[in-house]
Amino acid sequence: MTQLALAAKVTHVPSMYLSELPGSHHGCREAAIQGHREIGRRCRELEVDTIVVLDVHWLVNAGYHVNCSPRFEGCYTSNELPHFIKDMRYAYPGNPALGRRIAESASAAGVGTRAHEIASLELEYGTLVPMRYMNADGRFKVVSVAAWCAWHALEDSRRFGAALREAIEAGEERVAVLASGSLSHRFNDNGSDEAAIHRISREFFRQVDLRVVDLWRAGNWKDFCAMLPEYARLCEGEGGMHDTAMLLGLLGWDGYDQPAEIITDYFCSSGTGQINAVLPVR
Ligand SMILES: [Fe+2]
Repeated sequence: MTQLALAAKVTHVPSMYLSELPGSHHGCREAAIQGHREIGRRCRELEVDTIVVLDVHWLVNAGYHVNCSPRFEGCYTSNELPHFIKDMRYAYPGNPALGRRIAESASAAGVGTRAHEIASLELEYGTLVPMRYMNADGRFKVVSVAAWCAWHALEDSRRFGAALREAIEAGEERVAVLASGSLSHRFNDNGSDEAAIHRISREFFRQVDLRVVDLWRAGNWKDFCAMLPEYARLCEGEGGMHDTAMLLGLLGWDGYDQPAEIITDYFCSSGTGQINAVLPVR
């Protein structure tokens, strides 16, 4: 039995938090929230112990980094979109042993990686938003991996993902891995009307995203991996789509052939393309 219990690409749009609150956007991201709840339900069913989040909101400029503090607790306001996420409380246990093992495994594979247990190294909302809906009771331990890799090769992130799989399989815990990031990620221009929160910024991006989702549904990861570098660049992939390269490295890259299960249909948010999709583990 594999220790990797579940793998998914998930959205983390801050309008999900707005969707909870009274006001004009109340309920607007219910489908995405329900998708997260479903993934959380599956993690419970699969007796997952720890969720590793590949977080494209954690920017790093050199090396690979794992945040594996023993505990995460605080009150979060996004400095990027403070009118969307403010004063969001959170509390989750961490898993330092798994985080250290991930760093050792990746470093041994030649992808220099540091594991950090620093109380003031906080989680970013690429981790906090999915955990809010999947892990409200703090049942799952959380490990966060920096996936906005500003000066890194996607190939290294693929290798990081393969080493992550080795680290997971070397342990005895059941682990879920989430690539937390968007498809195309070109925001709307500043000053766009409020209704643009539900639109794509350019039709070109939506059309490419829809083709990508078709490839995923067909399990055609060979073609997707071949186009990933250009897709990430030309469609402004969030964090350079290093989350996606890591996730596919974990699953076998272009040799992976399982059809994705779309949990929340593709939707547009503030100009970007979003989805919740489970990638079956084999
Ligand atoms: Fe984001």
